[in-house]
Amino acid sequence: MLQKDVKLDNTTKSWVLKKHIDFLQSFGKERHQYESSMMEFLRMSGMYWGLTALYLINDGKIPKEDEIFEYVKSCEHSCGGYSPAPGHDPHLLYTLSAVQIACLINRESELPIEKIVSYVSKLQQDDGSFTGDKWGEVDTRYSFCALACLSLLGKLNEINLVKAVEFVKCCQNFDGGFGSRPGAESHGGLIYCCVGSLSIAGRLDLVDADTLGWWLAERQLPSGGLNGRPEKLPDVCYSWWVFSTLNILGRDHWIDKEELKTFILASQDNEGGGFSDRPGDEPDPFHTLFGLAALSLMSYDKILPIDPTFCMPKAVINRLGLKPQTLS
Ligand code: FPP
Ligand code: ZN
Repeated sequence: MLQKDVKLDNTTKSWVLKKHIDFLQSFGKERHQYESSMMEFLRMSGMYWGLTALYLINDGKIPKEDEIFEYVKSCEHSCGGYSPAPGHDPHLLYTLSAVQIACLINRESELPIEKIVSYVSKLQQDDGSFTGDKWGEVDTRYSFCALACLSLLGKLNEINLVKAVEFVKCCQNFDGGFGSRPGAESHGGLIYCCVGSLSIAGRLDLVDADTLGWWLAERQLPSGGLNGRPEKLPDVCYSWWVFSTLNILGRDHWIDKEELKTFILASQDNEGGGFSDRPGDEPDPFHTLFGLAALSLMSYDKILPIDPTFCMPKAVINRLGLKPQTLS
């Protein structure tokens, strides 16, 4: 099978913790920076990526919590959903990000919980699947958003969980992986969404952990990086999608962690801080979160522990009393 990869130079890159903190803090430096620094159509998720990353390397400290919560409130809609920015349409992706941000700053009880529950549960279809918004696109990433969102709010019992699990199960393939819909090819990102959903639902018994673990372990390339599908280049974000799933399945030792660390560290921007998708590219908050989160799963330096199911700090998941299922 064709294998695409990148070549790392032989020098190990130094770990620039302080520069990563500066990189992440630069996104919230001035008032209304949130309104200008990230592409509008995904700003709410951009805040979740940046703030979660900062929490992990800044001793759990997040500056300007009031301003952050004010921004979340400004994206609230009467239907109970959240948009990426004020004036945009609500969507399940940004509703999950809004709830995650509120949990991160310990203010989820101030959200209109019943309205959010109503928004999410109305997006569930008869076959158990979820659409992302009123326009009707079904995808297993939305199953994860719905289950994670309600679980964080302690309201998982408000949807048909049996049907939600049944739909995810229908998206399982012969190779043990999962796709976006029944019959769709296995994909690292959607495998995380499906296994994460089953972890939240306490139904990991439905996963063929050995077959899937093998497929996931095969994602590691000679550079040490992981790709999301066969024949694709390695990408730091798959260090999260693929490696966190291996952690949930108790098979994280099926890949070479030292080599994965080397690849992730090679993807740092040693001048300005932050991580990019692969060595030499421009850093961004998305790959910075997933690079740091994967390093956290490998207990690297002083990075705080992350929960492999929710991609949120373990301390926050513990505070909420959640115990997503994992296999040993
Ligand atoms: C790759 O997408 C990633 C995925 C399909 C997973 C997305 C997961 C969510 C939206 C759930 C929320 C996630 C968290 C961490 C709370 P891509 O379209 O970039 O795939 P490609 O690499 O094949 O282009
Ligand atoms: Zn990526």
